[in-house]
Amino acid sequence: MEIENTVLIKNGTIVRFNESLKADILVQGSKIAKIQSQISENEATKVIDASGKYVFPGGIDPHVHLDLPTPAGNSADNFETGSKAAIFGGTTTVIDFVTPERNQNLIEALNFRKADAINCFTDYSFHVSPIGWTEDTENQIIKCIKEEGISSFKIYMAYDISLNDFEMAKVMQAVGKQNGLVTVHAENGKVIEFLRRKSIDEGNVSPKYHALTRPVALEEEAINRAIEIAKLTDCKLYVVHVSSAKGMMRIEKAQREELPIYAETCPHYLLLDHELYNQEFENSAKYVLSPPLRTHYDQDKLWASLSINTIQSIGTDHCPFNLKGQKDAGINDFTKIPNGAGSIEYRLSLLYTYGVLTGKITINQFVGIVSTLPARIFGLGKQKGDLKVGLDADVVIWNPDYEKIISLENQYQNCDSNIYQGFKIKGNAETVLLRGEIIIENEKIVSTPKGIFLKRGLGN
Ligand code: URP
Ligand code: ZN
Ligand code: ZN
Repeated sequence: MEIENTVLIKNGTIVRFNESLKADILVQGSKIAKIQSQISENEATKVIDASGKYVFPGGIDPHVHLDLPTPAGNSADNFETGSKAAIFGGTTTVIDFVTPERNQNLIEALNFRKADAINCFTDYSFHVSPIGWTEDTENQIIKCIKEEGISSFKIYMAYDISLNDFEMAKVMQAVGKQNGLVTVHAENGKVIEFLRRKSIDEGNVSPKYHALTRPVALEEEAINRAIEIAKLTDCKLYVVHVSSAKGMMRIEKAQREELPIYAETCPHYLLLDHELYNQEFENSAKYVLSPPLRTHYDQDKLWASLSINTIQSIGTDHCPFNLKGQKDAGINDFTKIPNGAGSIEYRLSLLYTYGVLTGKITINQFVGIVSTLPARIFGLGKQKGDLKVGLDADVVIWNPDYEKIISLENQYQNCDSNIYQGFKIKGNAETVLLRGEIIIENEKIVSTPKGIFLKRGLGN
């Protein structure tokens, strides 16, 4: 047997979405070549002893905004710093976004965005956003799917890039015809705009009004509208960053009708709550993200939905902005605070600590939520998201005994604040392989950026 560039991972507990097993993994080149017990060390050039460790498939974060341009400057992590933080946390693939200029061709915007993703430590892809509807939009969507390997399209129901209902129906019909997927930011942007202006006019300008002007009812209404339009146009729908129990119940109702509706939530909706807005600007502005943080009742419902698999995916919505020089643009007006926060490096450790170790989800569900299901939903299932012979050797060796308290001093993300400051986490991605290459070894980065653009197929 050819033994060049072979890595043998021995004695670990392999965790898949549907099973856990004690076995060794032999990696040859970029792929998983063998999974069985007691593979001989003679077959490998490098042996990693994973005794007492878990072995997971590399994480897939389907929702990140690296280097996102905003009026307050680009989000604080570019592709290099953000993806480095991601891979330290056990995420080996990220899916970011392409937001075209008005009237810009989607393919042209995609090509510009690809150029931003230089020096990425993880593999990457993009969801492309039609921000209007023209005679040529359908052709561009077809080209994205058939030629560019882009099978998911993000639409916004809020912000100045939002689509109206007619445009949503057109996009969903076009994507649905190709069996692609529409992902949606579901908040009623027009009514939110009304509430925001009213709030500022009344002198209510502090960050807590960010939350008060984006009530659950406006998320619930938008989720429901998106589902109804997806149903009428026969389009698969993935609702990003679901934050509320009521929104989630709308999704579960649709799933009970066997509609192809998927849900994503984010760590902050599971672990942080709206009381955090009741602090002075310096401590509350970092939680200005959309939808806003909700109540304990909402958190409990989201955990329950994860446990019954009606939420299939966790995205971080990683989009950090510095307090100084970015968030502080809104010191006298919360509507000027750039929306977003970072957690790309903590997705696995937070879900493991607060989900698996508390018994809210099993370790197999954890692997499904952070890797297998997003891979399948977004058309990467033939390549990633599982530990199986023939798939990319994206492998995380997880040390369950590791403990740390999150702080600005030990974070990898590039931001002057951290919404998880002081959180205790257990478990860590000790060694991480990307397509067979060791990128993190014993918690140290040992490689330059090796991420590539992934052409995706049509998902489940
Ligand atoms: O606050 C957020 N979520 N910022 C990023 C953009 C978005 O809405 O996903
Ligand atoms: Zn959003
Ligand atoms: Zn987002």
